[in-house]
Amino acid sequence: MAYVARADRPADKAARYAEVEAEIAAVLDGEPNVTARMATVASMLADAFDHFFWTGFYVVDPTRERELVVGPYQGTLGCLRIAFGRGVCGAAAETGQTQVVEDVHAFPGHIACDSRSASEIVVPVFDASGALIAVFDVDATVPAAFDAVDAEALERLLAGVFGR
Ligand code: SME
Repeated sequence: MAYVARADRPADKAARYAEVEAEIAAVLDGEPNVTARMATVASMLADAFDHFFWTGFYVVDPTRERELVVGPYQGTLGCLRIAFGRGVCGAAAETGQTQVVEDVHAFPGHIACDSRSASEIVVPVFDASGALIAVFDVDATVPAAFDAVDAEALERLLAGVFGR
């Protein structure tokens, strides 16, 4: 099991997401700076789930053609740049669709920033106008750590923080 609840946390993963979503919204109330918002989301989600091994953003680089550059994150060293279409992050940026990957080693073109990563989820992040501004990437060291519950919760949380 990827989500193991501690004594002070809800037994259910969806309930834990709802709790941390409310905490993030409270912290960010009135803060417009996008870097501050991304750093807060990465920090609070990484702290909320013990199995989140790498947690953070790759932002769309406005100075380069179809390229992501690393943004605020928690975890071991991440690679700096990812082209649209490359790896899991690049697939999310290219398609605008959340990618849930049970086994990263089976994913064509997966970029191994840290060989301990075994599974991951990458969610595209849109601003209020609907433009793609980043992707949000979470890696775990266990296979199949993420499912539709994570996808739905993270899509809702990120839309709330960046989409309005
Ligand atoms: N695994 C990602 C690369 C980024 S890192 O894991 C931090 C990918 O293939 O898109």
